[in-house]
Amino acid sequence: MKLAFFDAKPYDMEGFDRCAEGTELEIKYFETRLNEDTVSLAAGFDAVCVFVNDTVNKRVVDKLSEMGVKMIALRCAGFNNVDVKECYGKLHVYRVPAYSPYAVAEFAMAMILTIVRRTHKAYNRTREFNFSLSGLVGFDLHGKTVGIIGTGKIGRIFADVCKGFGVKLLAYDKYPAKDADFSYVELPELLQRSDIISLHCPLTEETDHIIDKKAIAQMKPGAIIVNTSRGALVDTEALIEGLKEKQVGAACLDVYEEEGDLFYEDFSGHIVRDDKLVRLISMPNVLVTSHQAYLTEEALGNIAETTVDNILRFFQGEPDAEREVCYRCEKQADCRKKRQKKCF
Ligand code: NAI
Repeated sequence: MKLAFFDAKPYDMEGFDRCAEGTELEIKYFETRLNEDTVSLAAGFDAVCVFVNDTVNKRVVDKLSEMGVKMIALRCAGFNNVDVKECYGKLHVYRVPAYSPYAVAEFAMAMILTIVRRTHKAYNRTREFNFSLSGLVGFDLHGKTVGIIGTGKIGRIFADVCKGFGVKLLAYDKYPAKDADFSYVELPELLQRSDIISLHCPLTEETDHIIDKKAIAQMKPGAIIVNTSRGALVDTEALIEGLKEKQVGAACLDVYEEEGDLFYEDFSGHIVRDDKLVRLISMPNVLVTSHQAYLTEEALGNIAETTVDNILRFFQGEPDAEREVCYRCEKQADCRKKRQKKCF
């Protein structure tokens, strides 16, 4: 079993090498991302392993299938970068549905505490022996209202984390959980009542720019937006306008609409040409991190273990149906995957 591993980083290789040791899996690491220009590198491989910023569009899918690749092993949960409808009947797509929802939920809270209590600024000040407190006034989280959009694995854990701070919780989800111990409201009400809004839903056609100009106008003046899910959930231009007009009080962004060309690489010696990102980073009330919410030892270990397991089991003819994406019919009553545990 030959695996072409794209967008490989040293912290990925360690865990994957450990999990593949002693198995039939042979891994070739490519530093480059998978896209239309690099897809030919996958010739002669049985499977490809991709991450959040690889581009698996129709052309890439067709080329992979033509070259005899059988499987796409996503080493992440989200699959918005893969045209899964195009994969139907051609390539099987497996993912890691959960590797550490705690990592992302805890990181969202870390970002909130940082921006609210200005610890990033305090750290820089004291390193230069500046012990002034001017400009560092924060606010208590206790008693504030936190709105959670998307109450799946990460959103639920984030809710639990929030409870420890004594905040009031509001939630919005297209498919509300039946056993939740917080209140669901419609999206406009969540926007109007929340002091902090944290996004934990996937990126779909419906959620693309769920936070746009209209949504921002409905928010409490000064509300904080936290996005640790996918960049395109937030319309960046609308966010910048909202921040300039002080309608948005602060933003914590672990993901960014156009992150694909920048995140995970070192541009410290270059002029970054993305004016929107540069504008955001220049604002004192914006915290940008480069899609690192998942990056814990536990998560990396689970990602490697589950991905290697997905590949081995697929080629041994005993795949885990739960980890294969549903190509056409997810969540519909007559879904074939629900009945037969597979789409094709
Ligand atoms: P999940 O599938 O357990 O939960 C997603 C929730 O969103 C579900 O409850 C679903 O019903 C809800 N949802 C779906 N469509 C919606 C809509 N139109 N409006 C409101 N809610 C909707 O997913 P999980 O594991 O909690 O992950 C959430 C997202 O976090 C992922 O889709 C991914 O984009 C992001 N993520 C980010 C990471 C990072 O490092 N920054 C790492 C892992 C995930």
